[in-house]
Amino acid sequence: MPLNVLILAAGRGVRMRSALPKVLHPLAGRPLLQHTIDTARLLTPRKICVVYGYGGETVPQTIAGDDLVFVKQEPQLGTGHALMQAMPALAANPASATLVLYGDVPLIGRETLTRMLANGDRRLTLLTVALGDPTGYGRIVRDAQNAVRAIGEQKDASEAQLNITEINTGIMLIPTACLPGWLAKLTTENAQGEYYLTDIVALAIADGVEVAAAQPNHNWEALGVNSKAQLASLERIYQQNIADALLEAGVTLVDPARLDVRGNLRCGADVFIDINCVFEGEVVLGDGVRIGANCVVRNSTVGAQTRLEPFSLIDDAQVGADCSIGPFARLRPGTTMGMGAKIGNFVETKKAVIGDGSKINHLSYVGDTDVGRNVNIGAGTITCNYDGVNKHRTVIEDDAFIGSDTQLVAPVTVGRGATLGAGTTLTADAPAGQLTISRARQSTIAGWKRPVKKGKQ
Ligand code: UD1
Ligand code: CA
Repeated sequence: MPLNVLILAAGRGVRMRSALPKVLHPLAGRPLLQHTIDTARLLTPRKICVVYGYGGETVPQTIAGDDLVFVKQEPQLGTGHALMQAMPALAANPASATLVLYGDVPLIGRETLTRMLANGDRRLTLLTVALGDPTGYGRIVRDAQNAVRAIGEQKDASEAQLNITEINTGIMLIPTACLPGWLAKLTTENAQGEYYLTDIVALAIADGVEVAAAQPNHNWEALGVNSKAQLASLERIYQQNIADALLEAGVTLVDPARLDVRGNLRCGADVFIDINCVFEGEVVLGDGVRIGANCVVRNSTVGAQTRLEPFSLIDDAQVGADCSIGPFARLRPGTTMGMGAKIGNFVETKKAVIGDGSKINHLSYVGDTDVGRNVNIGAGTITCNYDGVNKHRTVIEDDAFIGSDTQLVAPVTVGRGATLGAGTTLTADAPAGQLTISRARQSTIAGWKRPVKKGKQ
C-alpha cells in the first residue's frame, strides 16, 4: 500500500519552558522528532512530510534528510490546519493512505504501526488507548454497537463523554483520496477556535467510510512529551526497554536502572556492566568485556576480555582484546590499542596507536603518537605534540623503554629497543638499542653548608 507519513511537529511546547522547539529535545541522545522519523522510515513510505512551526527554521535545519519534506505551519490553527498546509506537498506524490504521527510521541513502535497499516486504505483507522486518567485527551465516542462515532475533545466534550476512558492518541491512518474533501469541511466552530483533525471521524461516517480503532502493543507507545517531567519519564521507559533487551541477550547489568544507552550498544557473550555507565553512538563490546562503574563509552569498539576500570571515558577509540584501561583514563578520538595493551590511571591519549602489549600506566599524555609493541612508557610522560601552531607526531618503536617524567618534543622518533632516562627532554631522535638521557649529571658539593639566619649565633 503506497503510504505517506505526515508528522505533526509545529507546536511550541510551552510547558517545556525552553527556547528549543519541543520536538528537538533529546530522548536517549536523539531529538524526539528523530525517533518518530526513524520509526516512520521502517515503514518504507513514499514520502515523509514534517509540519513544523514554532522555532523558525531550527527544526528543518537540525533534522535534515533527503527523504524528508518540511512544510511550515504559521500560525498554528490546529491539527486539521496542519494537515491542510501539508496537502500540496502530499499531492505531488499521491499515496493511497496517509499515516499521521506526532513529533512529540517518540516511542510509537513499528509493530503497532504495521498492524494499523494492515487495516488498509479504505478505512479511517484511529490508534486509541484506555487510560486511568483520560483528562486532556480527545475521547472516543462509540455507539450501542460499539462502533466509533466521533471524538469529543476535552474542552468540547459533554459530561457523559468526559467519563469515557478510551482516548484518541492522535495517530491515525487516513484514506488519502478522502483527505482533501474532509479537510475542506473542517471549521473552527469549537471551544478552541481551531481546525480539529478529529472532526474527520464524523465526516468519514457521513461518507460511509468505516472508522476502525487499533490499540498499540504497549500503552507507553502513545505517550507524548509536554513537559520535562514527561520527557524524563519517557527516557526511563526507553532505557528500561534497552536494559531488558540486553539482559535477555545475556548481558550482566548490575543495575538495569542505572544504565543509559544513547545509540546502539552491541554486546558479545558474558559482558559485565557495572552501575552508572553511559554508552553513546555506535558501541561494540566483545565477549567477556567488563565495564567498571561510572564509565562512558562513545562510538568505540572494545575487544574481547578487555577490562575498563571505573571512571574511564572512551571516545571514538578502537580497543583490542585483553586490554586494561583505567581507572580514570581518557581515550580521545583516534586512539587505537592493540592486544594486551594497558592504559592506567590519569592517562590521556589522542590520535595514538598503541601496539600489542605496550603499557602507559600512570599520569601521562600521549597524543599524535605511534607506539610500537611491548613499549613501556613511565609515569608522567608527555608527548609535546603542539608547537603552538602545528601538531607533530611522535614515533616510539617496539620494545622501547621511556623513563618517568620524560618529554618527547615532536616530531621525534625513539628507535627500537631504545631506553630514555628518567627526566629526559627529547628534542632529537633517540637511536635504537641505546640509552639516551638529557638530564644534568648528578653531583654532590662536598662541605656545603645551609645558610644560617642572620643575627642568630
Ligand atoms: C490532539 C487531539 C486529541 C488527542 C491529542 C493527543 C485534535 C483536535 N485533538 O489534541 O484528540 O487526544 O492530540 O495528544 O487533533 N500540532 C501542530 N499544529 C497545530 C496544532 C498541533 O503541528 O496547529 C501538533 C503538536 O505539535 C503536537 C500535536 O499536533 O505534536 C498535537 O497537538 P496538541 O496541541 O498537543 O494536542 P491537542 O490538539 O490538544
Ligand atoms: Ca492543544
